Amino acid sequence: MENPCLVLSDAPVGLKSDGLGFQRYVRPLVSIITGETTETPFTIGVFGPWGSGKSSLLRMIDESLAGDYADRTVRVHFNPWVHRKEPTMLLPLLHTLQDTLKEDGKQRFREVVGRLGHVIATLTSDVLLRKASGGNVSIEKIKEVSKQYAEQRGMVESEIRNLRKTLQAQADVVAENGSRLVIFIDDLDRCEPHEIIDLLESVKLFLDLRNVIVVMAIAKNVVDRGVAVKYRDFGFEAAKVVEIGDEYLDKMIQLPLTLMPIDTGAFLGHLTLPQELEAHAHLLEEMVAPNPRRIKRVLNAYSVMRTIAQADPELHRLRPDVVLRLLVLRIQSPELYEAVIVRPELAAALEDAYGGRLSPEAADHRFVERYGTTSATPMKEALKRFHRSQEYLGAVFGGTAFAEEKEQLPRYLTMLGS
Ligand SMILES: Nc1ncnc2c1ncn2[C@@H]1O[C@H](COP(=O)(O)OP(=O)(O)O)[C@@H](O)[C@H]1O
Ligand SMILES: [Mg+2]
Repeated sequence: MENPCLVLSDAPVGLKSDGLGFQRYVRPLVSIITGETTETPFTIGVFGPWGSGKSSLLRMIDESLAGDYADRTVRVHFNPWVHRKEPTMLLPLLHTLQDTLKEDGKQRFREVVGRLGHVIATLTSDVLLRKASGGNVSIEKIKEVSKQYAEQRGMVESEIRNLRKTLQAQADVVAENGSRLVIFIDDLDRCEPHEIIDLLESVKLFLDLRNVIVVMAIAKNVVDRGVAVKYRDFGFEAAKVVEIGDEYLDKMIQLPLTLMPIDTGAFLGHLTLPQELEAHAHLLEEMVAPNPRRIKRVLNAYSVMRTIAQADPELHRLRPDVVLRLLVLRIQSPELYEAVIVRPELAAALEDAYGGRLSPEAADHRFVERYGTTSATPMKEALKRFHRSQEYLGAVFGGTAFAEEKEQLPRYLTMLGS
C-alpha cells in the first residue's frame, strides 16, 4: 500500500493545536485586554514576519476571550484584505462593528446598532464626499473634503470629529453594558501598500477611543512599503523609510509585541513527519529557516515529491536526505539552486569546500580533474559567491551526500524541477 500524500494545512491554528508555546503570549495579553486598570484607548501590535504565527496568536487570544470573558468583551474581527476593493476602509470597518454588535446573544446593543446604521447611511450617501472623491474616497480626501466643508459653511467641527464623537458615545454605551470592544485587525500584510496606510489612518482617527482595544497583526516591512509608497515623491532612502514606519507605529501602538524566534526542533516534534524523514529531523532542523510557514512548505513539497516518486520505480530509490537538501535550497536560496541545475557538480564542490577539502582558490586543473568540468572559471566564481554566503548552507553541504549521489543528481533535479 502506498503512503498517502500528507499535506499540512497552512491555516492559522487555535489554542488546541498550539505547537509553539504561544500560551506565553496569550495569558499576559488577555490579562491586559481584560484588566480593570488598563487604560483605553489601547492598541496592541503583534509584530512578526510573514508566516511567523501572528494570525494564529490573534485567533488564540480571541478563543481565550470567548471562553473566559465572553460577556465582558465584544470581539470584532476586521479583515481589511477582504474589503480592499472598497473606496475606503472606514465604511466596512463600521459595518463589521455593527454586524458584530447585532449578533450579541443578549441583544444588549440594539440602540448602538441603530446609531451605527445611521452613521453608515449618512456616510454612504454623503453627496459631498462622493462628489469630491470621484468614487475613490481615501482618508486624506475625507479630511480634505471635511476641511472644505468646514471652510465653506464656517462649521467649527469637522465631520471627522462628529463621527468620532458618535463612535465614542457608542463605545461608552457598550462599556456601560459591562463590555469592552476588542477589535482584531489581521491580514494587513496581504493588502497593497497604499491600502495599509489608509487602514492605519482610519484606525488612528476613528478607533482611538475610550473603552476600545485594538489588536493588530503587523509585518513591519509591509508597513515600511506602505510608507515608501505614501512618501514616494519625497524620495527618502530606505533607512529613512524604516524610521518613518517606526515613528508611525510608535504613535499608534502602546504595546508592541514581537514574536520570538521559534524552537525549530520542538516545532518539528509537534508536526507529523513522513516516516523516512524521522531519521533526518535533525538535519532538517539545522537547515530550515525558523519560520513555521516555511517549515510546512518544505515538508509539503517533500510529501508531493515522495508521492510522485512512489509511482516510479526509477525514482523510488532516491535518498530522502538528498531530496530534503535540494528542496530547502530551492525554497531558501533559489539562485544557488538554479546554479546547481546548470552545474550539478557545484553541489559536490560546495561539500568539498565546507569540508575543507578544496579551496575556491585552488588551481584550475584540480577542478577539471575532480569534477570533470571543461572550464574551472564558472565553478570557482560560483563557489566564491555561495560558499559561506548563508549560515544554513553549512548544514546543506556539511557531508558527502551529493558526492555519493553524483551520478543520480540530474535525476533528482529533474524530479524537483525549477
Ligand atoms: N502556535 C502555533 N502552533 C502550531 N502551528 C502554528 C502556530 N502558529 C502558527 N502556526 C502555523 O504556522 C503557519 C503560519 O501561521 P500564521 O498564524 O498564518 O502566520 P502569520 O499570520 O504570521 O503569517 C501556519 O501554517 C500555522 O498553522
Ligand atoms: Mg497572517
